[in-house]
Amino acid sequence: MDMLFMVFVAVVILLASSLPVPSFSTRISLSTGSSLDVRYKEDVLVSANEVFSAGFYSVGVNAYCFAIWFTDQSLNKQNHSIVWIANRDYPVNGKGSKLSLLKNGNLVLIDAGQWHPPVWESVTNSNTSEVTLSLADNGNLILRARGGERLWQSFDSPTDTLLPDQPLTRGTLLVSSRSSTNYSSGFYKFRFDDYNILRLSFSNLEVSSLYWPYAWQHPAETNRTMYNSSRIAVFDNYGHFMSTDNLQFRTSDFRSRVWRRLVLEPDGNIHVYSLDERRKVWEVTWQAISQPCRIHGICGQNSLCTYSQKFGRKCKCLPGHKMNVPTDWSYGCEPDFKPSDDGGSTFGFLQFSHTDFYGYDSGFFVNFTFDRCKEECLSHYNCKGFLFRAKGSKGENLCYAKSRLLNGQQVFDVHSFVYVKLPTNIIKIYEKKTNPLEDSPFLNCSGQDIIHLGRAYKKNSPNDSVKYMLWFICALGGFEMIAMAYFFSVNMGTYKSNQVYHQVATSFKRFTYNELKKATNNFSQEIGRGSSSIVYKGVLQDNRVAAIKRFKEENFRGEAEFLAEISIIERLNHINLIETWGYCIKGKQRFLVSEYMDNGSLADNLSLNILDWEKKYKIALGTAKGLAYLHEECLEWVLHCDVKPHNILLDSNYEPKVADFGLSKLLKRDVARNPRFSRIRGTRGYMAPEWISNQTITSKVDVYSYGIVVLEMITGRSPTTNVYDDTDGSSRAEQKMLVKWIRDKMQVDNVTGKALPMMEIVDPRMNGMYDRPRMEALVQVALQCVEDQERARPTMSNVVDMLAGLDLHHPSQN
Ligand SMILES: *[C@@H]1O[C@H](CO)[C@@H](O)[C@H](O)[C@H]1NC(C)=O
Ligand SMILES: *[C@@H]1O[C@H](CO)[C@@H](O)[C@H](O)[C@H]1NC(C)=O
Ligand SMILES: *[C@@H]1O[C@H](CO)[C@@H](O)[C@H](O)[C@H]1NC(C)=O
Ligand SMILES: *[C@@H]1O[C@H](CO)[C@@H](O)[C@H](O)[C@H]1NC(C)=O
Ligand SMILES: *[C@@H]1O[C@H](CO)[C@@H](O)[C@H](O)[C@H]1NC(C)=O
Ligand SMILES: *[C@@H]1O[C@H](CO)[C@@H](O)[C@H](O)[C@H]1NC(C)=O
Ligand SMILES: *[C@@H]1O[C@H](CO)[C@@H](O)[C@H](O)[C@H]1NC(C)=O
Repeated sequence: MDMLFMVFVAVVILLASSLPVPSFSTRISLSTGSSLDVRYKEDVLVSANEVFSAGFYSVGVNAYCFAIWFTDQSLNKQNHSIVWIANRDYPVNGKGSKLSLLKNGNLVLIDAGQWHPPVWESVTNSNTSEVTLSLADNGNLILRARGGERLWQSFDSPTDTLLPDQPLTRGTLLVSSRSSTNYSSGFYKFRFDDYNILRLSFSNLEVSSLYWPYAWQHPAETNRTMYNSSRIAVFDNYGHFMSTDNLQFRTSDFRSRVWRRLVLEPDGNIHVYSLDERRKVWEVTWQAISQPCRIHGICGQNSLCTYSQKFGRKCKCLPGHKMNVPTDWSYGCEPDFKPSDDGGSTFGFLQFSHTDFYGYDSGFFVNFTFDRCKEECLSHYNCKGFLFRAKGSKGENLCYAKSRLLNGQQVFDVHSFVYVKLPTNIIKIYEKKTNPLEDSPFLNCSGQDIIHLGRAYKKNSPNDSVKYMLWFICALGGFEMIAMAYFFSVNMGTYKSNQVYHQVATSFKRFTYNELKKATNNFSQEIGRGSSSIVYKGVLQDNRVAAIKRFKEENFRGEAEFLAEISIIERLNHINLIETWGYCIKGKQRFLVSEYMDNGSLADNLSLNILDWEKKYKIALGTAKGLAYLHEECLEWVLHCDVKPHNILLDSNYEPKVADFGLSKLLKRDVARNPRFSRIRGTRGYMAPEWISNQTITSKVDVYSYGIVVLEMITGRSPTTNVYDDTDGSSRAEQKMLVKWIRDKMQVDNVTGKALPMMEIVDPRMNGMYDRPRMEALVQVALQCVEDQERARPTMSNVVDMLAGLDLHHPSQN
């Protein structure tokens, strides 16, 4: 009886213990003999600080991966916050799969009850039976023996993400995901190569290539060193990245201690993200490649990658080709015609300017004439086209025959043309178009996956935030409310004194009058004054230093109208534009609150002569980016109309920020086209000829002013002061003289060889300390910008492409 009872009890206990016990509370650690089961979503390991979780993560229908992610659910919606996966290429079944810590100390992941072979294992072994798995506060999943010895850790086998203090070493690499929704291994790798250099590479089944740093650059050119074979790269919580090959960078929000992660993206770029805990979003604070078309393999073969601020990155099949897989550009395009086998007699060439297809040269010929280069390609069945450069570095012709058309992109190299071999019937269709790819512009911003680096304000300790705040000094040019009054019918009648609550934006604020009064200490510190406004310096409640602009009451505008303008300003967000934080309306008073810049305006800096060549170049490029954004980003179409050194402010890193684009400077397209739009904008010295003649005003007026600013930076000569004896003294004439003077010098340049004229143009105060090729290119670009004919000027985004492309000296050398 006793015996029977004992057996009964034993059976009950056995049964009970073999039944799955759903555990709905999260765990801190997993000990030997226990498992995490895919069926229980709450059955996860959580780090002590609760920031990280490890468990089964759904990656598809009935497909799970054992992963580590940021716990916060609102972050996981972005599909970004997975930081590690155990065997990402083999998701497991939603039933019978588990992660078990075996008695022998091995951690195994099994799929649907199949123990052999496991989907993944830590391959660890411990003779003491006490082993625990736990998730550390930094996101490292660690398997420890009793003595504390680490048997295994997830930091040693990263997938596509590095966390702070997780080193990338000789034995580890990052591999991108296939896409933002498919976490399988993709085409891009980030690792140390055999020369100890940290590189990005692309490889699929057919081809592989290095694209960062560019393959043709010697490591020394990119400030890398091959001589330290330790091969360790690591970044910290503050945003400082260091590698033994000398690669170093700081994120744009460097010094603020926030959660960060470095990700090799599915598109081959590297982004460092910082967590904005307040808004619950990850913000990109560093990226490896700012010109996304330079990433190899991105559009597949037989296609061309184009990038503009306006449309982002786009891939397009070459004429006569169609996409291989309609949903995935990485498979590229295939010919939609039969390859010929009769020696190519029915083939001809279609020309593409400013284009390069990197790599895959089947032949390289110096001093071939164009016709000879063409014959060469026609006569070879496997030649898909050729690149022809009329002027190599020594004035010789260069002919590159291409066996594949891969890595196609638009480049700034006026002498390079690509000729794609196509059947003559296809060529006939496209011949008449100046740019064969221009027939179907994509008007799409939503699909844009290019990230413009955000700006970051961190509100850590008050000391830090004051120290690293970007400050603002207002340009004295001020606002021209006359123009406003002219173009917008001011309807005083619509003004209502009751303060309607207008939801403008989350980060953008409507300040109360008292807040501003307090911030400015009763408007005590005036820092600038224009015809229509006065600017005060102030410190906001959250310690941000602000420039607060108060509009004069005689330029009063109704609340609705003011808010309509505010809603445009509010959406302008670019690292090279001054950021507006908010506004205030009280009775008839109107205020605008923006960031404050500690390095003053370009005008101040030019007069003090404290900018070196690198800074000037950076300012030229940044200003162009800011203006290109104003002109072309998918926002309202906005003209600045008063680009001048006083309106270009410099932050503590000498990154330029275009200011004073707000309010009266905003011109919508229809307004600018309006013939009533008259001759009152701009500042003498910087105004395009259209203002004086009776032509339509377009964004090219800003391009013109920009050109003058660049020429002023280079020469040190202001277009507004008469430095030439032979002018009639009017500013228009002076500005023309500056341009003419430089043009004449450059003309001489072509006749007598190079060095001398450049020396005469460049500001003598620079003592010859400059990079001549880049300087010459900058002068050329600026001269294009100041063409009298509006149509002959490039657009602002052309300018950005040209300046950013200046380091691309050798489009096709491999
Ligand atoms: C996140 O993943 C879902 C499907 O899992 C997808 O529909 C969505 O577009 C993704 N979001 C982003 C930002 O990639
Ligand atoms: C366990 O293994 C370690 C080294 O692998 C050894 O030093 C230790 O003596 C072993 N302990 C036992 C109880 O076998
Ligand atoms: C994810 O990508 C891999 C590799 O290209 C592929 O085999 C797999 O089918 C993809 N998974 C899904 C759900 O598309
Ligand atoms: C080169 O690397 C050093 C650090 O070793 C750094 O101080 C320097 O600014 C870098 N130069 C350039 C041009 O990036
Ligand atoms: C290589 O880099 C590491 C880490 O920066 C440093 O400790 C080591 O001294 C370097 N070795 C050489 C040979 O420069
Ligand atoms: C190419 O032609 C130029 C000018 O005709 C000449 O100076 C140069 O030596 C030639 N180069 C080669 C490799 O033949
Ligand atoms: C823009 O792109 C998105 C996704 O790439 C697509 O769904 C949408 O239809 C496109 N819109 C237009 C106007 O082409």
